[in-house]
Amino acid sequence: MTSNKSVPPTTTDAGIRVESDEHSLTVGPDGPIVLNDHYLLEQMANFNRERIPERQPHAKGSGAFGRFETTQDVSRYTKAAIFQPGASCDVAMRFSTVAGERGSPDTWRDPRGFSVKMYTEEGNFDMVGNNTPIFFIRDPMKFQHFIRSQKRRADNGLRDHDMQWDFWTLSPESAHQVAYLMGDRGIPRTWREMNGYSSHTYSLINAEGERFWVKFHFHTDLGDGNAHFTQEEADKMAGQDSDYHRRDLFNAIADGDFPSWTLKWQVMPYEDAKTYRINPFDLTKTWPHADYPLIEVGKLTLDRNPTDFHTEIEQLAFEPNNMVPGVGLSPDKMLMARGFSYADAHRARLGVNYKEIPVNSPKAPVHSYSKDGKGRIGNSVDPVYAPNSYGGPAAQPDPAGEAGRWFADGDMVRQAYTKRPDDDDWSQARALVRDVMDEPARDRLVSNVVGHLCDGVSEKILQRAFDYWRKIDTETGDRIESGVREKLGGASDAPGLASAESIPREAAE
Ligand code: HEM
Repeated sequence: MTSNKSVPPTTTDAGIRVESDEHSLTVGPDGPIVLNDHYLLEQMANFNRERIPERQPHAKGSGAFGRFETTQDVSRYTKAAIFQPGASCDVAMRFSTVAGERGSPDTWRDPRGFSVKMYTEEGNFDMVGNNTPIFFIRDPMKFQHFIRSQKRRADNGLRDHDMQWDFWTLSPESAHQVAYLMGDRGIPRTWREMNGYSSHTYSLINAEGERFWVKFHFHTDLGDGNAHFTQEEADKMAGQDSDYHRRDLFNAIADGDFPSWTLKWQVMPYEDAKTYRINPFDLTKTWPHADYPLIEVGKLTLDRNPTDFHTEIEQLAFEPNNMVPGVGLSPDKMLMARGFSYADAHRARLGVNYKEIPVNSPKAPVHSYSKDGKGRIGNSVDPVYAPNSYGGPAAQPDPAGEAGRWFADGDMVRQAYTKRPDDDDWSQARALVRDVMDEPARDRLVSNVVGHLCDGVSEKILQRAFDYWRKIDTETGDRIESGVREKLGGASDAPGLASAESIPREAAE
């Protein structure tokens, strides 16, 4: 047995010193292993249980820690303690891709997750956004189907552009986000150079009880938020370093090159929402800055790397329902569904007491009536019920009112949002392609879409895709169709595993 006095002795999980890191306990050097080699059994059993399920979407990612500070006076919009002038708190952040698995390449084309957890004195405030200001769909009923269409087929376990374009072209509300995805935002160069958006509209309430609607924009302090890899560079990087973005963030912070973002808000007075020409709660739409300009709020800086990836990043649990007093949800149907979905995902993935995992624990005191359950560490409150006569916690409503409340009345229906004068699926996508993108960016967009469509998309779906792009912008649609035709050499079906013939459901139609 080797002994090295300069390092601590190996122990079992119970802290008992072990005899060997190398040899199991056997009957003679060549004999059988005995069952009472508890340390060997403990190591094997622990190993078999190391992996927890990955997040359903957004499985691949990484994160870091830092601070948020409110640098401006926005107290006229919210009473939230963290958004009062000079207030600051610790933050945890995680960046991610959506569709890829835990080991997938960082540089696959995808929206990027941009999640912020603020450990405020009033409890945790989570902003779980993306690097794009809008989303593919506006009703949560379609979310599960949308994510499945971006992941893998049932039969061969492959990702499949045919099913991606099938879903998108049957869901015209996706046009705006697909235009972002196929443009430069679809493959950011680094996470540090990305913007982050709440995308959804949230609500605010100030100390006087006045209500507002708000969209959050985190603008990177490194460039304009559009730094990107071309498709070719990204494909190459996927082979060279599939963890490129994770490595970049970790190394930058380790080198003292701390990434930061300026938080800005678009604020809409409560009453405006009733008559605004665009439904302000439709997640597929932005609010034009000319109508609702950006207001600077504060600064977010990341300056600390995780020391244990599993406990601090893999077990990090964000949930859009974590809203502190002064900030709340809104009538955006997607947001309301997210208010349920995430905590449920965490209970399934991490267990009912996931908020006791240190990275998820608030820094504010907890006086909750939740109790017991698997893995519980903290004491329950006593008495274990409310109301009680023995000094247990008692709810204290704020007379000024809470955010996340609005007038609602009507019959229960299953219907799309009521249309406003400027609500259509194409015009904001067209403005992005025509007015926001310059000529080189549009060229890259066309080339990216052509490449994507030439990879296993059947003729029927191709026709719909050309039509979809022409509705966004006629010239761009024409260029995409001729690019695809040229590349496919006039063939009616793209080559590859997912050509129309290989898709059973196509044949069945
Ligand atoms: C992750 C559901 C829409 C951003 C997740 C997870 C679920 C989920 C279940 C995995 C959570 C976990 O296991 O930790 C939904 C549902 C949606 C929706 C039901 C719509 C109804 C959105 C939208 C955005 C978004 C619109 C962005 C604006 C994210 C991000 C993560 C995530 C960033 C990763 C969080 C992390 O870093 O841990 N979503 N999502 N999701 N979602 Fe959504």
